[in-house]
Amino acid sequence: MTDLLVNIDHVATLRNARNESFPDPLRAAMECLEGGAKGIVFHLREDRRHITDADVYQFKSALQTKLDFELSTAEEIVAICCSVRPQLATLVPERREEVTTEGGLNAIQSGTRLKNVIPRLLDAGVKDVALFIDPDLDQIDEAARLGATAIELHTGDYANARTDADKLFILDRFKLATQRAHENGLVVHAGHGLDYANYTTFGKSVPHIEEVSIGFAIIARSLFIGLRSAVAEMNHLVTTSSYDG
Ligand code: PXP
Repeated sequence: MTDLLVNIDHVATLRNARNESFPDPLRAAMECLEGGAKGIVFHLREDRRHITDADVYQFKSALQTKLDFELSTAEEIVAICCSVRPQLATLVPERREEVTTEGGLNAIQSGTRLKNVIPRLLDAGVKDVALFIDPDLDQIDEAARLGATAIELHTGDYANARTDADKLFILDRFKLATQRAHENGLVVHAGHGLDYANYTTFGKSVPHIEEVSIGFAIIARSLFIGLRSAVAEMNHLVTTSSYDG
């Protein structure tokens, strides 16, 4: 069964837009858990545009759930992640000018830095270290070679595919990718752009997905039906759309 983890960065984006103390990301995280989320995802960006260091320490002390700490390989952020010791750290590419994470890491090109950072996170007590990568077999082999214990497959191309033919083509890539990751002993997660309309086909088509990380669609829907209900609806889709071959 696939677990739903909810990304709450957008709650902090809203708070920071008015330099206010609300809406509180910690309270949002608690609502997500009430709605059935199996964990909370946040990205501490170098520019701190949404989640702040104080948020991270609050999550750590107040939440008894799986935390997925998304981070770049910047030294300062790696040090914070090592001190927080979340259950999962997901290494992502980061560019200041991007609106959101735009693609997967290039594990081959960034190999030297990743080879330094991955063991440091694991030695600090982070249970799983994932690389956020595209569904590319070479990238998957490299993730395993570098010592990552998990990967998060970037689903942006799937979410953006407009025709059924494009979707089928991309889903075939995902099937090969998750099979390869499974053979390499990597735990497989997925995320980016998954929503209420596109999740079911993805979930039923792609095997070995243990976790999905979903943010924007849930937070957007929560404006109309409340956060707990928005999470519960997505959780229902995730738990009832298992791979069916
Ligand atoms: N996974 C990663 C690595 C991300 O960077 C993001 C975006 O913050 C997500 C998942 C969630 O994407 P979305 O907000 O589109 O659901």
